[in-house]
Amino acid sequence: MRFRVPRIAPSEITPQEVYLSRRALLAGALATGASAVLPAAEPSPQGAPLNFTVNSQYSVKETPNKFEEITTYNNFYEFGTDKDSPSHEAHTLRTRPWSVNVYGEAEVHGTFDLEDLLKGQALEERIYRFRCVEAWSMVVPWVGIPLSNLLQRFKPTSRAKYVEFTTLYDPRQMPGQRVPVLTWPYVEGLRIDEAMHPLTLMVVGLYGRVLPNQDGAPLRLIVPWKYGFKGIKSIVKIGFTAVQPRTAWNVAAPDEYGFYANVNPQVDHPRWSQASERRIGAPFLAARRPTLPFNGYADQVASLYQGMDLRRYF
Ligand code: MTE
Repeated sequence: MRFRVPRIAPSEITPQEVYLSRRALLAGALATGASAVLPAAEPSPQGAPLNFTVNSQYSVKETPNKFEEITTYNNFYEFGTDKDSPSHEAHTLRTRPWSVNVYGEAEVHGTFDLEDLLKGQALEERIYRFRCVEAWSMVVPWVGIPLSNLLQRFKPTSRAKYVEFTTLYDPRQMPGQRVPVLTWPYVEGLRIDEAMHPLTLMVVGLYGRVLPNQDGAPLRLIVPWKYGFKGIKSIVKIGFTAVQPRTAWNVAAPDEYGFYANVNPQVDHPRWSQASERRIGAPFLAARRPTLPFNGYADQVASLYQGMDLRRYF
């Protein structure tokens, strides 16, 4: 396992004040019609400090992993399949301007600029356990908003049974998409009650700062009681659907990656046990820790699955 310092050059980190004044300038120019020429992409704000409150009610008491661990040991196949590839390659992703298309079984549809989407939303820091399906884990201080706060704005109808999320598809920015390791673009989904659960977070930051590209900037999902692959990165589409979405990993290997993907130490992956996990950063010979049902969030979420056979709906 190799950890390296993330490849965010200091020149790529825009101080928040510069970023905000630049936005004000652009907004002013737009309002007066003064400038018809906008740059193709704004500078990336990754690393800029965020304003947020700490939500200790929803935070675990464990020590978070180091920033270097969270940003250099990644799964983001759009930038290669090695754990250290995203930290080296994801600088080609342009996260501003960024828009999200909302469609499907909801009263409000359309394409929204990220800033408009997040306007008025209070950011929270939550320290969550993160369990990858590959049987390693971390503890991560995310910054984001409850997904329900975002989704309610679109007024889902009673026909909305699921929410479908899609990652950007642009092989120029995401060279891994030139390789057919998955059916691109990456798609994930949740049942609507899972999406509306207060633990489900739409993440924009990490360690109090704007999310680094390799961690899914500018917008990624975190569902702490599910395996990490449900946490789709760099989201450009959110749809409300009546039928269960066809998700990237489930399409690739339906026997290995179920739609639900709830962390479950009693249901092994066909090729390895899920009963225990290796905490990234722990000494090499440290004992593996037992995996907890629903990743330790059973008290809050087990009721969502009452009466369901979790071996069948894995
Ligand atoms: N989202 C996209 N678009 N592409 C990916 O390859 N990998 C998933 C998930 N989201 C992935 C993705 C997997 S398998 C995991 S474990 C987590 O992202 C990893 O998140 P991290 O790199 O922030 O730890």
